[in-house]
Amino acid sequence: MSTGSAPPILETKALTRSFSGFTAVNSVDLTIGEGTVHALVGPNGAGKTTLFNLLTGFLTPSSGTIHFQGRDITGMDPERIVPLGLARSFQITSLFEQMSLLEHLELALASGTGLTRKFWKSVKVLGRFHDRGMQHLEEVGLADRANQAAGSLSYGQKRALELALALALEPKLLLLDEPTAGMGLEDVDRTIELIQRLRHGRTVVFVDHNMHVVGSLADEVTVLQSGQILAQGTYDAVRADERVITAYLGESHA
Ligand SMILES: Nc1ncnc2c1ncn2[C@@H]1O[C@H](COP(=O)(O)OP(=O)(O)OP(=O)(O)O)[C@@H](O)[C@H]1O
Ligand SMILES: [Mg+2]
Repeated sequence: MSTGSAPPILETKALTRSFSGFTAVNSVDLTIGEGTVHALVGPNGAGKTTLFNLLTGFLTPSSGTIHFQGRDITGMDPERIVPLGLARSFQITSLFEQMSLLEHLELALASGTGLTRKFWKSVKVLGRFHDRGMQHLEEVGLADRANQAAGSLSYGQKRALELALALALEPKLLLLDEPTAGMGLEDVDRTIELIQRLRHGRTVVFVDHNMHVVGSLADEVTVLQSGQILAQGTYDAVRADERVITAYLGESHA
């Protein structure tokens, strides 16, 4: 259960969340090493998304603790957690179709500064975020489309724009829930390359059902089953674990 030599950026102790008697996340001790890419896998309903919701403050734990960079963030709201450097990407089903990619980034950057609505509507103010917006679009390979309407993007490109919007939150730890869901092979490989690039200077925890994605990206893998950690280690070690083969990999390879 170690993360090698990397000091922990995130640590949970006995983290638990119940929904009216049903325990979705059950006494999870999770340690994420700084600078690592960590995959969270497990069958449907294992508690992966619930765990992400707990880490990002979208759900309050029933019990247990969460420390981020040594600081107790248990029970904090997302509004307080995001500025500390812990953010997730959301699947945005309603990007503003008419708005350009750069405008999406500028709005995200401006709203992160706490400026009032009236203030950040001004084109002049948004212009301040031009360079940083372009930088995040470059990071996800969309810089050449900066002035196109978001509505003109393919599905894979929209998911990349969502990643750029998450990067605008300046996360030290970035959580990605199923970054390749619904993608064809080409977009999956493009997303793997993208995460390889954006991991530099950041820590990434992602959930994915695609074992090719997990094997390509993860330094360490945690397998969750019925809300509990079943196994943890390198992809190869976890893949060879009998309990994992029975509980999960065996099932998905069947
Ligand atoms: N708000 C809620 N109220 C009641 N039960 C919930 C709630 N959120 C999640 N659950 C239950 O908790 C369990 C874990 O759900 P969760 O969404 O965390 O699973 P998951 O591992 O992300 O699954 P998937 O791979 O399908 O996304 C499920 O049985 C789910 O029905
Ligand atoms: Mg889920």
